[in-house]
Amino acid sequence: MKLKPEISDKEMITVNGVSKTYLGGKFTAVDNVSLDIIEGEIVAFVGPSGCGKTTVMRMVAGLETPTTGDILVNGHEVQGPGPDRGMIFQAYTSFPWLTSRQNVEYGMKILGIPAAERRERGQKLLEEVHLGPAADKYPSELSGGMKQRVAIARTLAQNPEVLLMDEPFGALDAQVRWEMQEMMVQIMDVEKKTVILVTHDIQEAIYLADRIVFYTRTPGRIKHDVYLDFKKGQRFTSKEDLLSQSGYLEVEKQMFAWMREEIQLQAT
Ligand SMILES: Nc1ncnc2c1ncn2[C@@H]1O[C@H](COP(=O)(O)OP(=O)(O)O)[C@@H](O)[C@H]1O
Ligand SMILES: [Mg+2]
Repeated sequence: MKLKPEISDKEMITVNGVSKTYLGGKFTAVDNVSLDIIEGEIVAFVGPSGCGKTTVMRMVAGLETPTTGDILVNGHEVQGPGPDRGMIFQAYTSFPWLTSRQNVEYGMKILGIPAAERRERGQKLLEEVHLGPAADKYPSELSGGMKQRVAIARTLAQNPEVLLMDEPFGALDAQVRWEMQEMMVQIMDVEKKTVILVTHDIQEAIYLADRIVFYTRTPGRIKHDVYLDFKKGQRFTSKEDLLSQSGYLEVEKQMFAWMREEIQLQAT
């Protein structure tokens, strides 16, 4: 099935000439990155390991401060973390002493949402991430994939406008990763977020994103910023649908070629 996302023309994330140095300015991790991300877009950050993808995302999250440049989210300059930006990491981030349901409801409790509404939205999200039957289990009773489903539902429960995902499926085996990717396409059809997805997995980026920002090796600069035109503005509920789309293979080959240039592998 093909889904047509609603992408407005409103700028949700603006990164203006952002650089980040460490070691008292001796090491440049990110060099002069500028990009505008539109409300509803899913943008993947791809590039060689250590090129600064996580650093850019952490600056959008407000967990790091740019050395130069600035970042706006929904028109406001980022000055620290906020509930408008939800983060999902590779490591599972649920509270071990709470059940799946309690984990999902926790953030809503902090936001002061009444119990009945918490319960209803929590239940809906548990179903969206296919965790209904494990709602009352503790994280220690769950597989890695199920723990990550809890983390996703927990983040969505706070209803952030922006979802920042850093290698969210990196710790999962290939089959579970695939299930999670297809689940995310379905969830984004319902939840409609602006998403930055950091991933080293080229196929994952092409499958989930509308657009790919490809970084150079250190110091990270934008090498290419490309819309996946072959998808014709659609998202696919199955990976087979993506793979059978004409133009897919060209894009995948292009991404591997860019990666090869950046990591300077010899083509033989
Ligand atoms: N706190 C820090 N101090 C010094 N160097 C750092 C720090 N955080 C990240 N770096 C360096 O910045 C570069 C970019 O890191 P990162 O954004 O994590 O890369 P990626 O996510 O693309 O793999 C790396 O060389 C990393 O070692
Ligand atoms: Mg990283």
